[in-house]
Amino acid sequence: MSNSNPPPGTSDVFPEEIPLWHRLEDSAREVFPLYGYGEMRTPEFEYTEVFERGLGNETEVVQKEMYTFKDRGGRSLTLRPEGTAGIVRALSGTDVMNGIEKRVYYLGPMFRGERPAAGRRRQFHQVGVENAGRIAPEIDAECIAMLLHYLEKIGITGSTLLLNTRGTLEDRPPAENALREYFGKDIETMCDDCKDRLNRNVWRILDCKQEQCQKVIEAAPDVVSLFSPETQKFFAEVCEILNRLGIKYEIAPRLVRGLDYYVHTVFEVTHPGLGAQNALAGGGRYELYLPGSKKPVIGVGFAAGLERLLMAQEALELAPPENLIPPVFLVGLGGNARRLNMKLAGDIRRAGIPAMAEVEDKSMKAQLRAANRINANFVLIRGDEEIDKGIVVAKDMNAGTQEELPESEVIKWMLPKIIKKC
Ligand code: HAM
Repeated sequence: MSNSNPPPGTSDVFPEEIPLWHRLEDSAREVFPLYGYGEMRTPEFEYTEVFERGLGNETEVVQKEMYTFKDRGGRSLTLRPEGTAGIVRALSGTDVMNGIEKRVYYLGPMFRGERPAAGRRRQFHQVGVENAGRIAPEIDAECIAMLLHYLEKIGITGSTLLLNTRGTLEDRPPAENALREYFGKDIETMCDDCKDRLNRNVWRILDCKQEQCQKVIEAAPDVVSLFSPETQKFFAEVCEILNRLGIKYEIAPRLVRGLDYYVHTVFEVTHPGLGAQNALAGGGRYELYLPGSKKPVIGVGFAAGLERLLMAQEALELAPPENLIPPVFLVGLGGNARRLNMKLAGDIRRAGIPAMAEVEDKSMKAQLRAANRINANFVLIRGDEEIDKGIVVAKDMNAGTQEELPESEVIKWMLPKIIKKC
């Protein structure tokens, strides 16, 4: 391993790109608390059963994509492929099982062993929310509204909200029979995966992107009409509340989502700037079963991929966030000056202004070049002559002016100019 690349499907984020990440993270920390959600952190790995039972053994994620390993005690652990199961595991120890609502959001890395492609990574980052413990169409609608508020906050326009209902577990058997009967007739023309899905998990066929399967899928029966009247009413209410909130959506009858815990409302937000992996965010209402438990934790939530949000922002040519407080560079000519500059730099930093002081013996020209490289707004210069006079030379690079100031006046001189710029 002689090159500097990280493993496929992962990336390094350098300081230059970090402001873009902070904008996404800071906006989450700003928007979600407005709806009463608090940040929660759970481990980046869980016992494997939490995902097997929680997401469903038949899901692609559990079958093919989990990073699973044994710990020293021989227990099977898995790097979290998504956030909901771990959050729900933790919340199951609280009052959510008694119908007391919990509102949480989370940020962090997730891991899926997928074939890397644009927008498909092995380590990616999600921002997500979960509202656990209660069921009401209003909660689902507010959750969707909150996602759109977040996207608005981070400047993402032009996305599409897709909406569907998965029904309840009781609604499924008649719908599954209808789908199996319909696809059964044409299964020979469909891909090998779909042939496998017919008996194992017929819903997944609706998700298939293969061209040969698309024609058959497009004419599939409308299963929502087979769901119970209560389920249909719940979905109609979610739609009606969204209408009242002025939220535009498209009903997507084939939207099933890739995880098995969903019931009732499911949704996805797509963006044209993303290419083939076009989902910015996805979520829905769920009944999530934990290992050894007969009663599911109920809730609704969503997660958005930070890498995909960045791709959409880039496609929209959104300006990168500006560094609000520009840095100061201290030029020191001679050892004595450099020592004094280190002390002054410390005082400037304590006033909340970033400062860099040259520590090596370099020419004036080389030090000014270094100041340029960090886009310094102010440059403070001193050598033996200035020390003797008890002053520093202070340059305002924007204004193109320069003054001689006693050291004690430097911060007072800079502050009003910085406030004006901010
Ligand atoms: P998901 O649809 O699997 O849902 O993932 C949510 C988002 O994470 C996707 O829309 C996408 O932006 C991003 N994402 C997923 N996989 C990758 C990948 N391999 N590379 C890059 N980005 C990816 C969930 O994870 C559910 N836990 C959401 C949820 C929360 N449902 C209810 N509560």
